[in-house]
Amino acid sequence: MPRKKIIAGNWKMNLTPKKAEEFVTDMKAKLDTDKVEVVLCVPYVSLHAVQSVLKGSNIKVGAQNMHYMDKGAYTGEISGEMLADMGIPYAIIGHSERREYFAESDTQVNIKSLKALKTGITPIICIGETLKQRMSERTFCVISKQLSIAVDGMTADDIAKIVIAYEPIWAIGTGKVATPEQAEEVCAAIRKQIGEKFGQGAADAVRILYGGSVTADNANTLFKMPNIDGGLVGGASLQPTFEKVVHFE
Ligand code: PGA
Repeated sequence: MPRKKIIAGNWKMNLTPKKAEEFVTDMKAKLDTDKVEVVLCVPYVSLHAVQSVLKGSNIKVGAQNMHYMDKGAYTGEISGEMLADMGIPYAIIGHSERREYFAESDTQVNIKSLKALKTGITPIICIGETLKQRMSERTFCVISKQLSIAVDGMTADDIAKIVIAYEPIWAIGTGKVATPEQAEEVCAAIRKQIGEKFGQGAADAVRILYGGSVTADNANTLFKMPNIDGGLVGGASLQPTFEKVVHFE
């Protein structure tokens, strides 16, 4: 079975709930398709408003993070259980901005991803190298380590459910997109590593996205690559041109 592509928007800390509602009201019909899976990962406070507007469409709503405990004394945090109760099907886990600004470790990414699976939420697990690591030819070593820790304790069935986003840090928000060949090379290596650990079935099923300065202009060449199953799109997902990213073909 061919893998269905996913085009996920990562709004980061943008748009108030009111502005979010206006944006999706305007974009709903334009983004609604069953050819690809469209997911909008919005700030927690906008989840409800966005979900209400998108009701009845194929567009899904995701969170940008979640805590690994169900409840407790974790001031300011939101649990997977809370998101699941709202019917939120996706959560981004381990975005490089969370790793960099909130000191999220590979181990935390692993625990959160396992918890997401347990809660019925699909984790979109982010991995990626810095420019310095790429320049010193450590990309594959860095990615391999991040990946092996992230999926530790998962089964082949779990792997078939998760989404991995390869996001080179030097390409995020910089306008400096990876070439389709660079992105494909790493996504292929990720799939190979998954195959070695979990078997060919899991490798064929897992969806691997590329993220980092995806726009309407480069989406087509990136998403056409054999091991790239769509994208995690930041800045461009807040623009009307996101419609063109979604309909990249
Ligand atoms: P960008 O962000 O598309 O703005 O580069 C991607 C991301 O951070 O997920």
